[in-house]
Amino acid sequence: MSPKNPNELEDIEIQLLLEGVYRYYGFDFRNYAMASLKRRIWNTIRAEKLTSVSGLQEKVLHDSACMERFLLGLSVNVTAMFRDPSFYIAFRNKAVPLLRTYPFIRIWHAGCSTGEEVYSMAILLFEEGLYHRCRIYATDMNEAVLRKAKAGIFSLHLMQEYTQLYLRAGGKESFSKYYTAGYDGAIFHSFLKENLIFSPHNLVTDASFNEFNVILCRNVLIYFNKELQDQVHKLLYGSLKIFGVLGLGKQETLIGSPYEDFYDELAAQEKLYRRVE
Ligand SMILES: C[S@@+](CC[C@H](N)C(=O)[O-])C[C@H]1O[C@@H](n2cnc3c(N)ncnc32)[C@H](O)[C@@H]1O
Repeated sequence: MSPKNPNELEDIEIQLLLEGVYRYYGFDFRNYAMASLKRRIWNTIRAEKLTSVSGLQEKVLHDSACMERFLLGLSVNVTAMFRDPSFYIAFRNKAVPLLRTYPFIRIWHAGCSTGEEVYSMAILLFEEGLYHRCRIYATDMNEAVLRKAKAGIFSLHLMQEYTQLYLRAGGKESFSKYYTAGYDGAIFHSFLKENLIFSPHNLVTDASFNEFNVILCRNVLIYFNKELQDQVHKLLYGSLKIFGVLGLGKQETLIGSPYEDFYDELAAQEKLYRRVE
């Protein structure tokens, strides 16, 4: 037999691993962007003290604790309060005036990670006098991060950085009024949690579960290939009410998606759009 290309073998092994994970556990990573996926798979292989993708496949399929670690290793949970403050300024200036005209506002944070973005939005809406009219659904495929989000306790040493981001995002108060410093960290006040609902939802395999006035799906699509991005755009479009607002991450776009023409730009730089069709 003539020697074959090891890269080709690795690609086959990765496809088999992802197929097995999907068929056995229901998590579908088959259309995630390959370069970052490969890097993360190899990080997990090393952390598990294995030497090949097939070795990881065997362990993941026979050991559900390893599957949990695999899942954590694959999902990039990097987030921050008031991440990209200019987005929040645009949201205050362009989206909030529209939302004022609604008696009740339903918001979906898709891929909310540990919840920093969700509490940021709750604070913004509170300061704009709209929070009592809102219900915010915050979802992620990863239940471990959702547990953290639900607790609403963040590391105290981050508060200085978050205070700066809050001010740059147009924050109107003293940021420390929103949390109490405890031994465990900065505990966000329970009034901010009143209208939040955290729940698991997978953007790839789960259907729409409501109709929303606002959908924020920031820094999630970047991990998907084009086919999967288009599939998720379909889900987001179908979950957004006519004239609803869509917010994407800085490095993401609607341009080139089949849904591009169904939205107007509210703040193109900030990836803030409004459904018009
Ligand atoms: C980089 S974080 C972004 C968090 C937050 N939206 C932000 O912008 O700061 C990406 C999140 O997307 C989630 N994610 C990845 N694939 C997903 C999927 N198929 N369904 C739902 N969430 C997913 C990950 O678990 C992770 O928490």
